[in-house]
Amino acid sequence: MENETEYVVLFPFMAQGHFIPFLALAQILDRKRYTVVFVNTPLNIKNLLKSFPPSSSSINFAEIPFDTSDHGLPHEITDSLPYNLIPRFVEATPSLKLPFRNLLSDLIDIHGGEKPLCVISDFFFGWAADVAHEFGVFHLIFSCTGGFGMACYYSMWMNLPHRFCDGDEFLLPDFPEAGRIHVTQVTPAMSMAGENDPFTIFLQKNFVSWTNSDGLLLNTVEELDKLGLMYFRRKLGFPVWAIGPLLLSEEDRSKTGRQSTINSKQCIQWLDKKDPKSVLYISFGSQNTIPAPQMMKLAKALNSSSRNFIWVIRPPLGFDINSEFVAEEWLPEGFLQNIHEQDKGLVISKWAPQVEILAHKSVAAFISHCGWNSVLETMKYGVPVIGWPIGADQLYNAKFLVEQAKVCVELGRGVDFEVTQEEIVDKIELVMGENGEGIRRKACEIQEMVRDAIRDEENFRGSSVKAVEEIFIAAL
Ligand code: UDX
Repeated sequence: MENETEYVVLFPFMAQGHFIPFLALAQILDRKRYTVVFVNTPLNIKNLLKSFPPSSSSINFAEIPFDTSDHGLPHEITDSLPYNLIPRFVEATPSLKLPFRNLLSDLIDIHGGEKPLCVISDFFFGWAADVAHEFGVFHLIFSCTGGFGMACYYSMWMNLPHRFCDGDEFLLPDFPEAGRIHVTQVTPAMSMAGENDPFTIFLQKNFVSWTNSDGLLLNTVEELDKLGLMYFRRKLGFPVWAIGPLLLSEEDRSKTGRQSTINSKQCIQWLDKKDPKSVLYISFGSQNTIPAPQMMKLAKALNSSSRNFIWVIRPPLGFDINSEFVAEEWLPEGFLQNIHEQDKGLVISKWAPQVEILAHKSVAAFISHCGWNSVLETMKYGVPVIGWPIGADQLYNAKFLVEQAKVCVELGRGVDFEVTQEEIVDKIELVMGENGEGIRRKACEIQEMVRDAIRDEENFRGSSVKAVEEIFIAAL
């Protein structure tokens, strides 16, 4: 069997949005008969082991201690932590350098002195390149985001260009015209940050350390994301590979963390009753949420729109994300009862089987915060987007979807924008109504492009399939 003695070390950041593409990559490597060592903190490994027992694949899990007590943080990071603590965990991750070095050394000992073929670390862990190289091991950075979104995010944090802008727009350094950013697209964390902000210092240092690596992997598609890929190829001077879309099946994904709060059969049965392409799906990803007044306007718009919908609701901004559903405070009186009586909408508290919903023939459009996993999923199933990005790379992913992929209309940006009920209904109609034919057709074209990238057939091998092979030739 080819590759059976080769092993590859994968080390993602401790969040669901990062686990998903890393596990999808692990499954590809497993199919190619590489042994995978998936490194993470004890609690995350414990959770993953429940679902991916050692007997079920050649993915092995290795624990790394992450003592965050010096940083005044809870000892472990898991997906149920409040979103606003995440940057502080990210800033603390360079303290993992020594434990990772020890772990790599132990792994080499366990393998009788044989080094891993490659270490692939999260884009937050640029420092892992130095550790891998100390042992003479090939190292790759894996960015689970898209090319254009990551390129904008990188350039923004490296240059902080918004500080020199006195108008409404500015052009990102080293970008063509497509890198023109409106001030409302500066991510909230960055608009408040200056040069001495700890997260800025962390990210700048981290992005500089990327250049010590041997290459960059992006969870995107070569044919679709040319601008972002070109940016990094020019900037970093080492190979950049597009290996996406790396997505997990619904079944495997539910194993990585949160479980759907609705029985997926019940959800699919509800969709089965609806006409093809007649349902709007609304979700703001795994961590984000909108404020109560925006939630109220969205609910009123859904009431006045003629469209069917599925809405994943979680507590609005300012409420504990784990708190129980308190509809009266966030939704118009009688909203849930009305939609139930009319069988017009399905409200799911906290967590839905998103992939199964997007794959269903009744789904016509997606109001999304444009987190990259959601973007890949919606493109894979040819569902056009009504973008409502909240922060981070989402603002640039939305820009990419509108201007480059042309499968999205933007509804709003961030949590402070003023939106009217009428504007929401208009945007829904723009995508789901008669005038949305163009955008719907484009979404089908993009769907083909995204599916082709991972086609591996005798007479057709997609660009991402070929890229994965190139990586291992480079690593040898
Ligand atoms: C985070 C960052 O917010 C985002 O900017 C970055 O691009 C990726 O990491 P997240 O908010 O988790 O993203 O959103 P997204 O990338 O869309 O990932 C969410 C995942 O959870 C998707 O795979 C989605 O299918 C899944 N999900 C979300 C569900 O299965 N059910 C839900 O109810 C909500």
